[in-house]
Amino acid sequence: MGRIQLTGQGRRRLQGGHPWIYVDDIAGGEGEPGELVPIAAPDDRPLGWGLFSTKSKIGIRLVTRSAKQPNRSFWLERVRAAVGLRKELGLLHDAGACRLSTGDAEGMPGFVVDRYADRLVVQSGCQGSDRMRDFLVELFLEVLPFEVAGVYERSDSATRKHEDLKPSVGWLSGSAVEQIEIKEPERFGFPRLSYEVSLVGGHKTGHYLDQRENRTEVARFADGKKVLDAFSYDGLFGIRAALCGAQSVLCLDQAQAAGERLLGNAERNGVLDRVRFEKVNAMHDLRDRANSDERFGIVVVDPPAFARNKREVEGAIRGYRELNRRAMSLVEPGGMLFSASCSFNIDRKTFVSCIAKAALDVKRRAKIFSIRGAAADHPSLANLPESEYLKAVYCRIEVE
Ligand SMILES: C[S@@+](CC[C@H](N)C(=O)[O-])C[C@H]1O[C@@H](n2cnc3c(N)ncnc32)[C@H](O)[C@@H]1O
Repeated sequence: MGRIQLTGQGRRRLQGGHPWIYVDDIAGGEGEPGELVPIAAPDDRPLGWGLFSTKSKIGIRLVTRSAKQPNRSFWLERVRAAVGLRKELGLLHDAGACRLSTGDAEGMPGFVVDRYADRLVVQSGCQGSDRMRDFLVELFLEVLPFEVAGVYERSDSATRKHEDLKPSVGWLSGSAVEQIEIKEPERFGFPRLSYEVSLVGGHKTGHYLDQRENRTEVARFADGKKVLDAFSYDGLFGIRAALCGAQSVLCLDQAQAAGERLLGNAERNGVLDRVRFEKVNAMHDLRDRANSDERFGIVVVDPPAFARNKREVEGAIRGYRELNRRAMSLVEPGGMLFSASCSFNIDRKTFVSCIAKAALDVKRRAKIFSIRGAAADHPSLANLPESEYLKAVYCRIEVE
């Protein structure tokens, strides 16, 4: 078995709370790719156990601060805790969908599990989670209170290349399906909703589960409004709004397949007469519409991450400012802008300052009345700022 010894700085960092150890903070020792190794301080005191990487700049991802070696019952407890949270959140109902593991925040570094009705989609992001994949899947199957008909792997995220891992995609077990229908029951006064997820061809693990609660929050304001849902993917901001009485919904996205699913979803929910989709470059389209007289009661902008790494931050700040300038120009006075950023390299303060500058540019008052994050089944770890990525700003747009 391997063992890793930290430098003094590595020890201080770990004891300061952050669960990632960078290679520069490793003084010596060895481990196999993805091995669960004991971590020692410079004076040999045990500091816990973590998943070792032979390639990433993140040399170790902490699993536990206990000196005791994690065994099967340790991991079973981790999986029980993850599933238990979703149960308490009321997300394990029949035909529902939720994130069962976010990875690091659940103490299962790099291992994401989403549930779409009776199928699981797993996504592994590091050598350690690759090594533990089959074992963790087995524990999830043991703990989940329903029969799982199939497990699909979507380990194709860009972060894998930092670990020298190739994409790994395909059915691990059970019966293969391309699409699956999700049915969310009526809840907290919001009407039931059904939608199709493309497990095989969709973005991420098939769907953007993290926006579930933001969609209902936005829908609270939708009655009688004209809604613009930009970067709509399969349209659930817009469809939720239509279900809550929006007068009309225009969805914009560049992905044709998502747009087709969007129209199917609108039909499924009986709102096709009020929902339109246009396959466009939303950045250009928003600029053109802003220059026309068209105005909306609610504008939703939920673009892909503009800053996927630190080098992209400056450009992303300019991009968010420009996007929000265009979006704000399209909001009728007293209307609402919902603006999201999923770039974890842009923190909340920086994102709000992009919105503030955009408001100044277009001579509007952006009155922020709520700032939220990802849905509750996407917990972040208090001492891992990197796990809090989604910023969702709600503002009323008023005339200066
Ligand atoms: C974060 S996702 C949006 C998720 C969606 N709002 C939801 O609630 O599921 C970003 C979307 O932007 C789309 N996209 C990326 N660049 C675009 C562009 N320039 N114009 C239009 N759509 C774009 C992608 O196809 C993707 O569907």
